[in-house]
Amino acid sequence: VDDPDAVEFALCWDQPMGVLERFPNLKCISSLGAGVEHLLSDHTRPEEVPLVRVVDEHLKQGMAEYVMHGVLEHFRRFDDYRSQAKLSQWKYLKIPHIEVSGIGIMGFGEIGRFVAYRLADFGFNVSGWSRGPKPADQVRHFFGSDKFNDFLNCTDILVCLLPLTPETENILDTRTFNQMPKGAFLINVGRGAHLVEDDLVKALDSGHLSGALLDVFREEPLPEDHPFWSHEKITVTPHIASVTNAATASIQIIENYRRATDGRPLIHQVDVGRGY
Ligand code: GLV
Repeated sequence: VDDPDAVEFALCWDQPMGVLERFPNLKCISSLGAGVEHLLSDHTRPEEVPLVRVVDEHLKQGMAEYVMHGVLEHFRRFDDYRSQAKLSQWKYLKIPHIEVSGIGIMGFGEIGRFVAYRLADFGFNVSGWSRGPKPADQVRHFFGSDKFNDFLNCTDILVCLLPLTPETENILDTRTFNQMPKGAFLINVGRGAHLVEDDLVKALDSGHLSGALLDVFREEPLPEDHPFWSHEKITVTPHIASVTNAATASIQIIENYRRATDGRPLIHQVDVGRGY
C-alpha cells in the first residue's frame, strides 16, 4: 500500500497483528468470513472503527452440507462398514431410530440455526444451545450455562458452531464430554480453540466418545506430526466445512464499503462487547 492515508475500508482474514494501526482513515473493518476473532484479538486495532462480518446463504448452506454429511456418516455407521469391507465381511449393524438420535447444536446464531433446521427437517431430534434466548420455532432450544448439562445429556452427536470468545474457549473439554451419553460423537466446525485436544484424545481412548470429525484446529494447517492425523477415531478436514463464496459475499462487502464511505449504518455489524 503506497498511501496508507487513502485506505478507508479494510477487508481482512488472518491479517498480521498490528497492521490495522497503519491506516489512520479507516471507516470500516470487514472480516472475509463469518468469524471475527482474528480482528477482536488484535489489540492494536483502532477501537472506534466498526467491525462487520459476512452473513451469507452460501456459507450457511455449505455448513449444513458438511454437518449433514458428518451426522449421516456417523449415524449410518459408514466407518464400521468400511472396516468390515476391508475384511470382506457382510454383516448387518444396528442403528437407533432417527427420531431418538439427539443432535445438539452449540451456537444458535445465523449458521447454527440454519443447520439445526435442516437436520430437523430431515427427521433428527435436534436441540440448540446458546448463551442467551433466541427465536427457535422448529427445534428445542436451551440457553444459559445452567441449561448446558441438560442440553448435553440428550446429545448423541454434538456439533460446535459457536463463535470463539473468552467464554467459549476450551468449552469442549472433559467436563462437557462427561455430560454426554457414552458413545457420543463430536463434530467441531467452530474454532480449534474451542477444543481441549488432550481431553478429546482421552475421551476417545477411554471409549466414552466414539469418534470425532474436526475441521478446525488450534494450529492451521494442522502440523504433519500432530496425533489427530493418525488417530483411528478422528477424521480431519482442512477448514473447508464452509468457505466464503466470492460472488455472493462481495455484494454485501461492497454494500458495506458504500455505506461506510457515505456515513450510513452498516449491515452485519459485530457487537464488539459480545464478541460476535
Ligand atoms: C470461516 O471459518 C469463517 O469464519 O467464515
